[in-house]
Amino acid sequence: MQNGGKLAGGNPARGRVENDFYATHEDSTKALLEVWKIEYPALEPACGEGHISKLLDPYKTKSFDLIDRGFGNVGFDFLTYNHLAEYNTVITNPPFNLFQEFVEKALNVTNKHVIFFGKLQALEGQKRATFLEKTPLKYIYVFKKRQQPLRNGISTDEETGKKMSSTMAFAWFIWEKGYTGEPIVRWL
Ligand SMILES: C[S@@+](CC[C@H](N)C(=O)[O-])C[C@H]1O[C@@H](n2cnc3c(N)ncnc32)[C@H](O)[C@@H]1O
Repeated sequence: MQNGGKLAGGNPARGRVENDFYATHEDSTKALLEVWKIEYPALEPACGEGHISKLLDPYKTKSFDLIDRGFGNVGFDFLTYNHLAEYNTVITNPPFNLFQEFVEKALNVTNKHVIFFGKLQALEGQKRATFLEKTPLKYIYVFKKRQQPLRNGISTDEETGKKMSSTMAFAWFIWEKGYTGEPIVRWL
């Protein structure tokens, strides 16, 4: 755990925040939106404070979260809630420890695309490879530059007050229902 924390560029002594609230920096979402046209209606199932949702069409996007962070519909566990509405896109930055469960559920909820922001590390590991090989993962948009998710929704270190820096590599992962080819890697 300690080595993992150090390798990931975090502070291992501090641990992860509750319910994995690392908000997505608007620049990370804007970079995706420059190359990808969202197909609506869209669902943000773990919206946090709405960092992704606020950059999408507000009339065609529904936002939910398990925790009340002052945005969207709160108290909804994405993994168990039965989303009856039709969505063409499920887009989020899921809690890292539930990445796989979120992918499975999102593929059941969307008609077309699942778009997740996450660490490149999400691709790693034998179990993960076996899982992903069976999913219609179509694109991996890897960031050329380091991205800075906002710990607890803020861009400065809560202990030092200094701007956070990141040594983690991030990407946008895009699944397309019915896709049977190999994943395609592109760079942002
Ligand atoms: C990594 S943060 C990202 C927040 C937001 N998607 C963004 O990009 O800024 C993950 C979010 O997932 C929420 N969350 C955790 N478990 C959840 C669950 N089972 N169902 C819905 N939301 C959940 C957390 O409360 C947190 O807001």
